[in-house]
Amino acid sequence: MEIKFADRLQKLPPYLFARLEELTEAKRAEGVDIIDFGIGDPDLPTPEPIVKAVQDAVAKPENHPYSSSAGEFYLRKAVADWYKVRFGVDVDPRKEVCITIGSKEAIANICKAFVNAGEKVISPDPAYPVYAAGAAVLSDAIPVKVPLRAENGFLLDTAECPTDAKMLYLNYPNNPTGAVCDLDYLKSVMQWCKDTDTIFCYDNAYSEMCFDGYLAPSALEAGRDVIEFGSLSKTFNMTGYRIGYAVGDERLIAGLKKVKSQIDSGAPMFIQEAAAYALGMYKGRKLPDIITENMEVYAQRREILVKGLREMGFDVPMPKATFYVWFDCGMDSMKFTEKMLNLGLVFTPGVGFGDAGQGYVRVALTQPSERILEALERMKESGL
Ligand SMILES: Cc1ncc(COP(=O)(O)O)c(C=O)c1O
Repeated sequence: MEIKFADRLQKLPPYLFARLEELTEAKRAEGVDIIDFGIGDPDLPTPEPIVKAVQDAVAKPENHPYSSSAGEFYLRKAVADWYKVRFGVDVDPRKEVCITIGSKEAIANICKAFVNAGEKVISPDPAYPVYAAGAAVLSDAIPVKVPLRAENGFLLDTAECPTDAKMLYLNYPNNPTGAVCDLDYLKSVMQWCKDTDTIFCYDNAYSEMCFDGYLAPSALEAGRDVIEFGSLSKTFNMTGYRIGYAVGDERLIAGLKKVKSQIDSGAPMFIQEAAAYALGMYKGRKLPDIITENMEVYAQRREILVKGLREMGFDVPMPKATFYVWFDCGMDSMKFTEKMLNLGLVFTPGVGFGDAGQGYVRVALTQPSERILEALERMKESGL
């Protein structure tokens, strides 16, 4: 029997990161000391009290069965309480919140709920690849990539977006550019979406990874015509726990729940219990100490890296949020990345996030300061 992938799988773009992984493995096999700045996965551990909360929760037999695909009510309530404390927004945990198995699945599943085959889905370019691939292509929709331009602070310009799309994905603080936006900008995008009948999906996965006193807004502060995705992954160094949330318009939440009810059975209850504990650490609008301490580590790394790259002549913006440094490498981004790999340094080529990322490189601040200094030294010695 011949086994062929479905057409939609064949439409997925080539996965450039897989080639990078192969090249990295080859270097490692040669015995090269690899310093990996590639993946957006915190190297810092989950804060101790949260680990303890998971341990306590997993020991309880009542946490061993299936959950519900929409999540346990107490966690939906904890998310709603957190929205009130952190953003000053009231949401109904019964209708306006859904717990997700990390935000990635929900970002993809929302498209299945509302977009028909052949309809357009707007994705920024460069962007987290899931919007165009996992969401649009795997829903048989047509991804329309709209460039984020440096001269516009990497903010999507809705004037460049098609007005006949079904859905728009937007993400600030932004992966991969590190760009941030303000509430007025979110209001203007929400208005555009209303005017053009486009479903607004806001990815706020990095809302808590902020520096220098900046605090990212929620799109729900701009109004209710949106579904927002959030995650405990980056905020609490919990990427492997797979826990997130979607909050917003009850019809959009209902659609997401309906899709999820057919394909998953919810996040593990012991993780949900720990997630509720983690969100409960917020006592006001500002970040709890545990996150501030985390962000201080990233801030210090960010300064070392940005300063070092600037000294080598690169024009590197100091990101106000996320743990990514994004800069113009002055050449083809894959070529630059391969050059770096010869020095044992794994950077991510901007073009892996879309054509508009060509000429750029993303560096994740997921290595200790000493390793960042070592990487800068290797770059300097190579004559860059
Ligand atoms: C922009 C963005 N959104 C969403 C996610 C998904 O995170 P998770 O599924 O761990 O919540 C990521 C992960 O890197 C991301 O960069």
